[in-house]
Amino acid sequence: MAVSGGIAAYKSAELVRLLRKQGAKVRVVMTRSAMQFVSPLTFQALSGNPVHSELLDADEENSMGHINLVRWADVLVIAPATANTLAKCSHGLADDLLSTLYLAATCPVYVAPAMNQAMWHKTVTQENIQKLKSHGVIIIGPEQGDQACGETGFGRMSEPLAICNRLMDETPTRCLSGLKVLISAGPTREPLDPVRYITNRSSGKMGYALANAALKAGAKVTLVSGPVMLSPPVNADLISVETAAQMHAAIIGKAPAHDIYIGAAAVADYSPMITEQGKIKKQDDQTTLTLTLQKTRDILAEVAQLVNRPFTVGFAAETHDLEQYAKDKLTRKNLDMIAANWVGRDLGGFDSEQNALQVFWKNGQKNLAMTDKNQLAEQLISLIAERREYERGNKNTA
Ligand code: PMT
Repeated sequence: MAVSGGIAAYKSAELVRLLRKQGAKVRVVMTRSAMQFVSPLTFQALSGNPVHSELLDADEENSMGHINLVRWADVLVIAPATANTLAKCSHGLADDLLSTLYLAATCPVYVAPAMNQAMWHKTVTQENIQKLKSHGVIIIGPEQGDQACGETGFGRMSEPLAICNRLMDETPTRCLSGLKVLISAGPTREPLDPVRYITNRSSGKMGYALANAALKAGAKVTLVSGPVMLSPPVNADLISVETAAQMHAAIIGKAPAHDIYIGAAAVADYSPMITEQGKIKKQDDQTTLTLTLQKTRDILAEVAQLVNRPFTVGFAAETHDLEQYAKDKLTRKNLDMIAANWVGRDLGGFDSEQNALQVFWKNGQKNLAMTDKNQLAEQLISLIAERREYERGNKNTA
C-alpha cells in the first residue's frame, strides 16, 4: 500500500487493519507529505512491518530495495492518491519511492483518489485519470460528500471497507505461491525417416493454459513442450523437445526439483523401432508397408516412482470407458490425481478451444464442466493446490 499526503491518510490506516484481518500481508510506503498527516509508527504497528519512505536508503537497498518491494507484492494500492500523485504516475515521473514503485510495478495497480472537489473536476486531473485507466490502472472512487476543507462534492476517498472488499474480490488467490511446477504439453513426433514422423492431434493448448494458470497462481513454471504453434507463456522456463525420448530425458531430469508435475502432453506410446537414415522409398511391387514400433518409456509413471516425487498429476485421453480407464491409470501409475477428458468426439479434448475434465483422486472426484481451456486450467490448478495442501496436511498429522 502506498500512502500519499492527504487527510484521507487516516482512513488508510483502517484499510491496512481490514486487509490484515482478511489474511493479507501488507507493506506500507509513505510519501513525506503523508507522514505529516499520519505517523509511520501507526502503519508500522498496523501492518506489522517497517514503513518505507526513502527511495535511496542504504539500509533498505541492502534488504528490500524498491524493486524487490514491488516484486514482492501481488497488488499495489495507492490510497489516498492525491492530485499530485496521480499526475506523477500518469506521466511516468519517478522522483520518490511511491512514484518509482508505481513505475516498476508489474502487478495490478489500484488507485483510490482523494482531493478537494474542484481539484478532482479540473480538466488536467480528469485527463490524468483517463490516462491511468488507459494504462490499466483500476480507479476506486472517489465518493461524493462533505469534505475536510468544508466543501461538498466528489473527492472523498472511498471507504476502507469498500476498497478492502474490492481488492479481496478481484485479487486472484496465489494458491501456488513459492512452488515450482513442471508441466508437459503438446504432442511428440516420432521420426520414421528424415522427412516423416508419427504424431497425434495435440495442439498444446491445454498444457500451455495450465502453465499460464500456474504462473498466475504464483508458481515458478517449467514447461516441457512438444512441437506446437503457440507462443510460450511469458515468465515460464520453456524446454522444447520433439520425441518421447527427449521429453522423458527433460522431465525425469527436472522433476525431483519441482513440487508439482502435470503431464498434459500427448506422449507417443510407441515409436518406430528404426529411424531410417534416408527417405523410405516407395516400392512398386509392395502394396503394404509394415512398421515395427516399440513402446516408449512412461514418463508419468516414472515421475511417480521417484524417491522425492513431486505431487503427480496425469491426464487420461479416452474415446470410451473414460472413468474406468482413468481410475485404472490413477492406481496403476500411482498418481496423486488424474484429469480425464474425452477425445475423438466433438467434446473438446484435442485441438479445440474448450474442454471438460473429470478429475479423480483416491476416494474423491470432481467434474469440471465444458469451458474455455484457460478457465478450465485455472479451475484445475486451484483443485491441484487444494488437494496437495490437503494431502500434505494429512501426512504432517499422520
Ligand atoms: O493439446 P490439446 O490440443 O489442448 O489437447 C489436450 C489433450 C487432449 C492432449 C490433454 O487434455 C490430454 O488429455 N493429455 C494427455 C494425452 C494422453 O497422452 O493421454 P493418455 O491417456 O494416452 O496418457 C496418460 C498419461 O500418461 C498422460 O498424462 C500422458 O502425458 C502420460 N504419458 C503417456 C505415455 C508416455 N509414454 N508417457 C507419459 O507420461
